[in-house]
Amino acid sequence: MVPKISTLSGYLHEYQKSVANPIGFWSNIAESFHWRKKWDEVLKWDFNSPNVEWFKGGKLNITENIFERHLFSRYDQVALVWEPNDPSEKHREYTYGELFSEVKSFANVLRSHAVRKGDRVAIYLPMVPELVIAMLACARIGAIHSVIFAGFSANAIAERVEDASAKIMITSDGGYRGNKILNLKDTVDEALKSCTSVQSNIVVKRTNQDVAWKNDFDYWWHDEVDKVMDEAPAEILDAEDPLFILYTSGSTGKPKGVLHTTGGYMVYSAYTFKNVFQYSSGDIYFCAADIGWITGHSYIVYGPLLEGATTVMFEGIPSFPNPGRYWDIIKKHDVNQFYTSPTAIRSLMAEGQQWIEDVEMPSLRVLGTVGEPINEEAWHWYHDHVGGNKCPIVDTWWQTETGGIMISPIAGVIPTKPAFASLPLPGIQPVIVDNEGNKLCGKSVEGNLCVQFPWPGIARTLWGDHERYIDSYFNQYKGLYFTGDGVKRDEDGYYRILGRMDDVINVSGHRLGTAEIENAINEHPLVSESAVIGYPHEIKGKGIYAYVVCNDIPSDSGEELKNSIRKGVSKMISPIARPDKILFVQDLPKTRSGKIMRRILRKIAEHNEDYGDTSTLTNPDIVNDIVKAAKLLK
Ligand code: WTA
Repeated sequence: MVPKISTLSGYLHEYQKSVANPIGFWSNIAESFHWRKKWDEVLKWDFNSPNVEWFKGGKLNITENIFERHLFSRYDQVALVWEPNDPSEKHREYTYGELFSEVKSFANVLRSHAVRKGDRVAIYLPMVPELVIAMLACARIGAIHSVIFAGFSANAIAERVEDASAKIMITSDGGYRGNKILNLKDTVDEALKSCTSVQSNIVVKRTNQDVAWKNDFDYWWHDEVDKVMDEAPAEILDAEDPLFILYTSGSTGKPKGVLHTTGGYMVYSAYTFKNVFQYSSGDIYFCAADIGWITGHSYIVYGPLLEGATTVMFEGIPSFPNPGRYWDIIKKHDVNQFYTSPTAIRSLMAEGQQWIEDVEMPSLRVLGTVGEPINEEAWHWYHDHVGGNKCPIVDTWWQTETGGIMISPIAGVIPTKPAFASLPLPGIQPVIVDNEGNKLCGKSVEGNLCVQFPWPGIARTLWGDHERYIDSYFNQYKGLYFTGDGVKRDEDGYYRILGRMDDVINVSGHRLGTAEIENAINEHPLVSESAVIGYPHEIKGKGIYAYVVCNDIPSDSGEELKNSIRKGVSKMISPIARPDKILFVQDLPKTRSGKIMRRILRKIAEHNEDYGDTSTLTNPDIVNDIVKAAKLLK
């Protein structure tokens, strides 16, 4: 088990050590794991090329660290609790022994479908236990999983499957989400029409609905598992062999295939999980994120299971069958640590006090948030009403690319301040730079958040596109990893994340690129151009505001056209990317080089009339026209 910090002076000591001697610091933590062969070199790095390798030459399998390492002491301990969408359906529990057996069986299924080390496996599943089993089965045989969030459209799936040339798809007949049924198999069938790399589709039976079937291509999960044994030796991998790809949004249209490797990710996800949440053996931990995003990968699956935790996964949504559902789950399973997003907190807060008022959750010790800045009001509500004034809140800042939490309080150890992610974890060296790349030293400064030294969980590349990796993270400021976020450091050295500085928006904690939404809008036959920006939204943190140029602006409110644009975006990407507001305009404010002045569009959306210098625009008059139209928009 990785070492746990338990006092503030302990944190300060560990932090100093991690900066003075990162090699010694991380190799000491890595010693807690089971390596088939120890590494030759702890760290090799260069942020200029850039290239990062951790524990090079080390041999291991991450599933041996989850299962074999714990089996003697945890065979009968519950590893995974699965809480279904409908509370009247029975929940399921898997002990470490049972989960191990399921993982080995499914590893054999993958092997029987000719999946080998290094092959890519696409997984498009709802929040069912088979999702965890499939990921770990891939890891068992050295295949690279690429989980695709089950809210994505056929088009978005196809883009991701093709980019990774996935050999196998794993999906389900359908999925439950609140009172909706998702037709996952239909969506996958549509997506796979254009994907030539996929050789078989393994289907979990969840909803029992009728689905189209292609013999010798579609296979039921349960039939396949019945054919195999449950003994499956682990493939022994190099520490730098890929573990998974996870697609996320960037500032250009195409999603980025963020690649994480085995050894470093293992060490980092486990260390941060244990410390941030102060997990102790026997605790019940519940992260309400979706495994389709990085939070679910690192803090439902890998981090907790590596530390021998009992991790709760939830199939449904916080408002079904009523807005008390999270609290019911916490009470039912005696949850000790609960981790969710600011959007979920704000939406539950908006449902009214009656759902939380008389709820007692004595088991709760730690509350966490992630994915977007949390406003002070939501922080206080979470602290006072959910945590009953007794649970520290860990406001965890990190990214798909960082693999694990970077800046966050350590629960009960680092004093919290509302809306501050607080201090860097040991091993993390944040720096703030101005737009010219000058480091802003000292306290009370504001600028662009970078990191100047590697940590084991850093993404190693973007799948098939190392140039884009360099461009996205290392080209802005020489020798530094740029996060894309703005940040403020206060007089106590505490960090407050201000949000994205680039063309990425965090909508309800989901990360979306404005360019991909614009591309989808521009597909509409009546649209000639569009610009999408984020604007402050009471519940979602950021809403999506689309300025749309049409050949013929509708003379009425244009509801019909708006709906058809929204439908198009759902079809191209996902319902989560649908614009909240659409404003039809004659033109967009542009510079002489043809660049859209988003700064002005952002100000208009915020009803802030200080547009700054508009003299460099080719069409300054358009600003007034847009402002007038925006005032009329509901
Ligand atoms: C934002 C999610 C403020 C940030 C783990 C980052 C946050 C992006 C916080 C990454 C936080 C994440 N406070 N902002 N505690 N946590 N963010 O890749 O803008 O889906 O760059 O990873 O979410 O989103 P991603």
